[in-house]
Amino acid sequence: MSIIKIRNLVKKYHILEKEFSVLDGLDMDVEEGEIFSIEGKSGIGKSTLLNILGAMDSFDSGEVEVCGTNLSDMDERGKESFRAEKIAFIFQHHLLLPDFSALENVSIPLLIKGYSTSKAEKEAISMLEKVGLKERIHSHPSQLSGGESARVGVARALVAGKKLILADEPTGNLDRENSRNLMGLIQELQKDLRFSLILVTHDMELAALAHKRNQIFQGKLKPASVPQTV
Ligand SMILES: Nc1ncnc2c1ncn2[C@@H]1O[C@H](COP(=O)(O)OP(=O)(O)O)[C@@H](O)[C@H]1O
Ligand SMILES: [Mg+2]
Repeated sequence: MSIIKIRNLVKKYHILEKEFSVLDGLDMDVEEGEIFSIEGKSGIGKSTLLNILGAMDSFDSGEVEVCGTNLSDMDERGKESFRAEKIAFIFQHHLLLPDFSALENVSIPLLIKGYSTSKAEKEAISMLEKVGLKERIHSHPSQLSGGESARVGVARALVAGKKLILADEPTGNLDRENSRNLMGLIQELQKDLRFSLILVTHDMELAALAHKRNQIFQGKLKPASVPQTV
């Protein structure tokens, strides 16, 4: 089953008087349960594409179908409920709420879904255990290391059981060791929970996790040119 289908997507930006197409006739097909990487140099349009997939940004033309929803003619309300129901994000800067504990941060998506506090906390604790933070559930973001905060971000993204996870440079802020740990964790959880993951990254090691590797080039998506290993 297809979870993302894009045909001929065009996204333009205007800078001063000039117009330029960041995405220019882009096609994309992702199957359920796939890890799909989007690589490419800085400024090439990776975050722009991810934001369009998450209905965070508009586009100029083309067909964009995500989780069975056509994003072409959707108003703001429609986009909001689409995001709430279907999509989870993992960010480079984690974007945890600083005044709340790890447990509270991870509970929030469940409270939004209408869970009672006790049920939300039970699920959040179980998710925090899965990401190896059983001992840190009451810590606040300022008391967590970069690697631990990243894990809370992953737990928050996955706790509500969404089928599509959008990750923008999830290891961009981490050192090599923490990146490797986070990658291993994401891979393990994906095998277990079977979500589809769109992984935007310029980290070749992280991209190597993907079932399908792609890059943006001249406004289109192409199979990534993977360096030969000997
Ligand atoms: N709101 C905006 N207005 C004008 N140009 C933008 C805007 N957002 C991004 N861009 C430009 O679009 C291009 C792609 O940006 P982005 O998708 O953030 O790239 P990447 O994530 O691959 O680094 C860049 O040249 C960037 O400067
Ligand atoms: Mg970016």
